[in-house]
Amino acid sequence: MQFLRDLKRTHDCGSLRAADVGTEVVLFGWVHNRRDHGGAIFIDLRDRGGLTQIKFDTSVNAEAHALGETMRSEYVVGIRGKVVSRGTNVNPKMVTGEIEVEVEQATIFNQAKTPPFPIRDQVDTSEDLRLRYRYLDLRRAPLQNAMIVRSRTNNIVRNYLSENGFIEFETPILTKATPEGARDYLVPSRVHPGMFYALPQSPQLFKQLFMVSGFDRYFQICRCFRDEDLRAERQPEFTQIDMEMSFIEPEDIFRIVEGLVRKVFKGILDIDLPETFPRMAYKDAMERFGSDKPDLRFGMEIADVGALVAGTEFGVFRDTMKGGGTVRAIRLPGGGMSRAQLDGLNDVVKIYGAKGVAWVRLREDGWQGPIAKFVPADVQQQVNAKLEAQNDDLLFFVADTWHTALNAIGQLRLHIGRTLNLIPADKLAFTWVSEFPMFEYDAAEKRWVSMHHPFTSPVPEDVSKLTSEPGAARARAYDLVLNGVELGGGSIRIHSSEVQQKVFDLLGLTPEESREKFGFLLDALAYGTPPHGGIALGMDRLVMLLLGTESIRDVIAFPKTQKATCLMTSAPSNVDPRQLDEVHIRVRQG
Ligand code: AMO
Ligand code: AMP
Repeated sequence: MQFLRDLKRTHDCGSLRAADVGTEVVLFGWVHNRRDHGGAIFIDLRDRGGLTQIKFDTSVNAEAHALGETMRSEYVVGIRGKVVSRGTNVNPKMVTGEIEVEVEQATIFNQAKTPPFPIRDQVDTSEDLRLRYRYLDLRRAPLQNAMIVRSRTNNIVRNYLSENGFIEFETPILTKATPEGARDYLVPSRVHPGMFYALPQSPQLFKQLFMVSGFDRYFQICRCFRDEDLRAERQPEFTQIDMEMSFIEPEDIFRIVEGLVRKVFKGILDIDLPETFPRMAYKDAMERFGSDKPDLRFGMEIADVGALVAGTEFGVFRDTMKGGGTVRAIRLPGGGMSRAQLDGLNDVVKIYGAKGVAWVRLREDGWQGPIAKFVPADVQQQVNAKLEAQNDDLLFFVADTWHTALNAIGQLRLHIGRTLNLIPADKLAFTWVSEFPMFEYDAAEKRWVSMHHPFTSPVPEDVSKLTSEPGAARARAYDLVLNGVELGGGSIRIHSSEVQQKVFDLLGLTPEESREKFGFLLDALAYGTPPHGGIALGMDRLVMLLLGTESIRDVIAFPKTQKATCLMTSAPSNVDPRQLDEVHIRVRQG
């Protein structure tokens, strides 16, 4: 009897139980570990189903036992044998721990070099080494689980959207720049010297064109490419669950996405999420949590104390208020921070552009701390009342312009939350954030830039502000936020070519430039475009949050490093000069 030809696999390594005792089975897999007790050799055999203990015993089959002696970690082997009970030696840590398989016949399909790190759930190997041998890293149970969860998530998404009337499309990868705010990856054309395709930052314009074509409900699980600074939740290529719908309002999109997210969390984690998620305006999110992606798993909301402290002797507060700025405060109940921890906080807020943070501790007889003496008792009491402060609480203040003060104190809130473990890890706090500003002013470039993208519709009553007061115009844009991470973002689109042209004007695109870049969109808008809108969810981020992993690299099969390299294939790499010639490119030296 030959393995593969006559002996087919009967079970995976995670499925045998006490009820299978007595059954003849064939298992294939990798040698996870091996213990040699002389007459008996025990191996934990591993495949993607799990682990099963197999036993080579001289008294069962001496030939198989001899082969078992030569087996080493990560060899690929096949065995045929009988399931037996482990009796009193049950291993409660293994799902197959009630049984073992007595080997009657064995084969070695392939040997293996000693891997550069052990194939274990927990390894303390550097991530670089694991990325270089990613195919081995992917053998480890946590990564196997991540890939399987990712596949199941894909399935749930596809089924849900298909059942809800969405049509699945594919859009070009070799295309023209779509502005999502990052740099493009460019691909040189051989046939057209000096010309380039851009890899899509998203399928934004194509999905809008499907609406013009009348498809009504579009979806795609698509790859997007953005050349931007990378972080734990950012990769140069990533996957979006991308959707677009016609004849809808933001609430319709919220409901579809809530239904989708509910299905995914039920299917993967068996968690019942609420029917609807809270909705919050951008301004409230900023004012209360200092972030457009607020982490609502814990409190410590921000208070505006500017008016109360404007007249005090503390120069920073007084001058900031005089200059049209603001002073914002948060409260740490119980005040559980050491002096050394407090002294480190200035460096935290400075990262976000604030000049510093002031703190006081509330004692029986008033404030204690560096700024206490500058603030009279009645003002202290008013601030205490506003923050509902109790004795021993710590109060923190940041004075600056509106955005800098809120952003910095929002980050301080997160820093304190993380440092003191105030953020419950098992909580899921979803929220929609909407009514973003249309534009942000880029002071360095001295021009307005879109906060979402240039195809986003203004709130109808703010259309007139586009010319009079661009900074005050609100967009019909929304983000879905989970636990302080932006899970998705979208908007109702502009469906009139005049408004679209107005927005391009504001962004500093001349009519010629907007024609050259987006002429096809402007043309299409003139041929009967339905009101439409959509959203894209970050698939990698969704799976990361489902699994509670630290980084989206943990849920992407072959991710890039923070420097956008692939350590396994060594991409990017030099190319043959002939290839460069063909695409009409000469590389500048130095
Ligand atoms: P946006 O740019 O907000 O919108 O992207 C949508 C979602 O994609 C995820 N995401 C990323 N994930 C990993 N790495 C990245 N570099 C990265 N960049 C974005 C985030 C984000 O919320 N076309 C619009 C959508 C629309 O308007 O319908 C768009 O791409 O989870
Ligand atoms: P300084 O006068 O710079 O020594 O600052 C005195 C105290 O005020 C220190 O605790 C600083 O951290 C704090 N501080 C400085 N700038 C600000 C600011 N913009 N907002 C709040 N506190 C500040």
